[in-house]
Amino acid sequence: MKIAKIVLLIFVYLINFTGCQKKQHANLDGKKLLEQKCSACHNLDLPPKTFVDEKAPPMMAVAFHIKDFIPASNESEKIPKAIDFVKDYVIHPSKEKSFCDKKSLQTYGVMPSQKGNVTQEELQAIGEYMFEHYTIKNLTEAQAIENRLKKMPKGERLALQNNCLTCHRVKRDLVGPSFYQIANKYDDLLYIQERIANGSKGKWSKFHGAIMPSFRDKISLEDQEILAKWILQQK
Ligand code: HEC
Ligand code: HEC
Repeated sequence: MKIAKIVLLIFVYLINFTGCQKKQHANLDGKKLLEQKCSACHNLDLPPKTFVDEKAPPMMAVAFHIKDFIPASNESEKIPKAIDFVKDYVIHPSKEKSFCDKKSLQTYGVMPSQKGNVTQEELQAIGEYMFEHYTIKNLTEAQAIENRLKKMPKGERLALQNNCLTCHRVKRDLVGPSFYQIANKYDDLLYIQERIANGSKGKWSKFHGAIMPSFRDKISLEDQEILAKWILQQK
């Protein structure tokens, strides 16, 4: 099934990109630290989002070009040296050390030292996470998923992103009734939209009292309507 495959892909994506991977420092989470200490200036998305008035290069660009330019005699030396560079640069940044090209350096200005904001142990964890996360492989996978999502009708994408598809399929009953059945039972956009907002229970005896949670606080009114329209189209 196409949808099942995409759900699986998203699942793999979430595991890969939410930091469930092994960590050397049991108590230091490089991903969280990066968000806390660096995201005020660097965009952390993969693929990165860029802005006209951004304060710093996206973190993916930083990671990629440190890895490209760091002098190392072989591949296995590269990452430890790149991490050492980060540990030094964040505390003692300078025009001379930066691998940024001259023009970008002029636009951004040299990074202000983060001395006092972040410790060497924290930077070790940040560096390890950076070079594990910002890789060509992860970028390619993330782009493939983005492209698949972009090609979907918006309603289907919302169903996927809001986890409707963990309980519903289009044609097949799962934890809840298929969208095909729901669309055939009701021909009422507002009713369906209201069920998405408020949740449901006891309407489908076949599902043995399983409960549909409320999505009022999770999905905007506008997106609830798009979802409801998409469900009605599944007749
Ligand atoms: C106040 C804004 C700001 C914060 C906060 C910040 N940076 Fe930066 N950073 C910059 C700017 C601007 C540049 C680009 C100019 C330069 O290379 O110095 C940069 C460049 C870098 C570079 C060098 C890139 C290269 O290509 O040589 C590294 C490494 C880096 N940042 C890591 C970090 C890490 C890790 C954190 C969080 C601990 C962080 N930065 C927090 C503004 C910031
Ligand atoms: C945890 C599982 C679960 C999730 C997640 C879930 N549903 Fe449901 N859904 C159910 C169950 C179970 C029912 C049947 C409940 C009942 O018997 O009234 C249901 C029923 C429905 C109904 C019909 C309600 C009625 O009055 O007959 C709609 C519409 C619906 N879901 C849409 C969605 C949408 C859209 C999403 C995502 C935003 C979603 N559901 C997420 C389990 C779920």
